[in-house]
Amino acid sequence: MRSNWKELLKQPFAQENLMMMGKLKPAEEFTPEEVEALEPFWKRVEATALPLHVPVKGPYERKWWKEAVAYQIYPMSFCDSNGDGIGDLNGIYSKLDYLKALGVDIVWLSPIYDSPNDDNGYDIRDYRKIHADYGTMEDFDRLLEGVHARGMKLIMDMVLNHTSDEHPWFQAALKDPTSKYKDYYIWRKGKADGTPPNNWQSFFSEPAWNYYPELDEWALHLFSRKQMDLNWENPELREEVYDMLNWWMDKGVDGFRLDVINLISKFEGLPDGEEGFITGIENYVYGPHLHEYLQELNRRVFSLHDSYTVGEGCGLGAATQVSMTLASRKELNTTFCFSHFDTPGHSKYSTYRYDLNYLKDYIMKTQGTQDADNWLTLVFENHDQPRFLSKITREPGEIEPAAKLVALLEMTLCGTTFIYEGQELGMRFVEFKHASEFRDVEAINMYKKLLSEGKTEEEAFRFVAPGTRDQTRAPMQWTSDANGGFTTGTPWLRLNDNFDTVNAADEEKDPDSILNFYRAAISQRKQNKTLVYGDFVPVCPEQKDFFGYTREDADGKYYVEINLSAHELERPVEMNGTLLLGSYGTAEKALRPFEANLYRLR
Ligand code: NOJ
Repeated sequence: MRSNWKELLKQPFAQENLMMMGKLKPAEEFTPEEVEALEPFWKRVEATALPLHVPVKGPYERKWWKEAVAYQIYPMSFCDSNGDGIGDLNGIYSKLDYLKALGVDIVWLSPIYDSPNDDNGYDIRDYRKIHADYGTMEDFDRLLEGVHARGMKLIMDMVLNHTSDEHPWFQAALKDPTSKYKDYYIWRKGKADGTPPNNWQSFFSEPAWNYYPELDEWALHLFSRKQMDLNWENPELREEVYDMLNWWMDKGVDGFRLDVINLISKFEGLPDGEEGFITGIENYVYGPHLHEYLQELNRRVFSLHDSYTVGEGCGLGAATQVSMTLASRKELNTTFCFSHFDTPGHSKYSTYRYDLNYLKDYIMKTQGTQDADNWLTLVFENHDQPRFLSKITREPGEIEPAAKLVALLEMTLCGTTFIYEGQELGMRFVEFKHASEFRDVEAINMYKKLLSEGKTEEEAFRFVAPGTRDQTRAPMQWTSDANGGFTTGTPWLRLNDNFDTVNAADEEKDPDSILNFYRAAISQRKQNKTLVYGDFVPVCPEQKDFFGYTREDADGKYYVEINLSAHELERPVEMNGTLLLGSYGTAEKALRPFEANLYRLR
């Protein structure tokens, strides 16, 4: 039996993984047989083991991106300027003043590169070309200038784990197997019985390998069959990537959101995975060269510019992600953590009422991990998840206070904060009527798989509809006019029917709207830097349905009180302060459903 397993058990990655498998317990409770059976697991933990992080006390280094409010734009759905039913760069340009007025500092564009759009742009065909649907490089330059002219920054979504199968590199590999581009991707011979090289499944309900008869080989794709995984072990490929990233930085962009960046290193030999939700995931979710590649990216690109990076990933817990964001390790500035998007036992396909007490626990656990060497992010919605607001509310009367509660949380906690388009309006659940309305490759594949497993069309539709990524990709609701003012043409994806009541134009006019509450909350964060840099201290943490905390530093002290429930709640504690912002306008004797208030204490 290996001798260092107890040391390995202390690694955050080991703990988070064992927890997910339901096997986490104190070292003394492991039997030798259990330790032995976990040998492949220990091997993987050993490959990425790092010195344990000791929180670094002391003041935070002040940085623009730490104070920033970032706003994610899903270009296809944001604003269509030419009536073709698809959002575009000139449409985004026309809304820059709206973003500025909201208080946005960083605009993040989901992919706008040339792409066959199998996965709506996360399958890039040309990293240096703008998708014709979105406009031209001149339109992009104008947009970038417009963003900068308003004192905002722009970050690009960058997909470095895979390219489209239509990318010239992949095409060259197919055409000439002796070309250097073949090794830019991950190829293997099949098994003797003609089956794929291993049993891995893609994230999109299919085997993770495509067979190419002309080469008699299989190529790996962890996502759709048109998204081919790049071989990061090839140094020439990495050079091309750095070149391309520097080209965008030299153009003036301010950083990157890095798509599934934790998947770029795969375990040698690509062994069969344990059968599970995504079979094979343990072999690439935290690969042996991940940190090496991130440090190289930092050295060759990020550190050469005043850039901001946020890594997106999957399958890693918050504690493991810290290893990628420690300033002293020189990898990424921040990562996203999504483990609070659903409560345990639920997935994005579940329809249930989310209990905000779980969110409170998550926040209490994670806020404390921010230190002088490590910076967090705050995120509740994105283009891959159903609207958070719909998960936490049931009755119409709850929507407005619950949306304001989320806004106040985001603007008063530690971390760089992210808003997803429409979140600031209280956009929510779309009632899809039929599977033919789905546009998302993940949803379509899942639907087909369910049918192939014997589900009826109705059953498959009912399962997929609440979780399809089309939920948050439904077009922005600008006005109560036709198509919510998103397009004069036919929208590429159906809008939520409620755009006549939920839209930016009407909310602009209503001083109590969700939009105006977001503006006010953002403005509080900007005026009072203590809300960015101050210490986070929970108040009455044991009190169910109540979440209270202070943010404090030499410049001031602030207090947030929140009713996490849909019923009235007595205050467990009275604090004497000045109400700066309250979701019901004023504070009263008891906390009303989902009420959230911000006070200045000194
Ligand atoms: C994560 C992105 O957010 C998602 O939309 C995409 O499908 C996958 N990565 C693959 O690129």
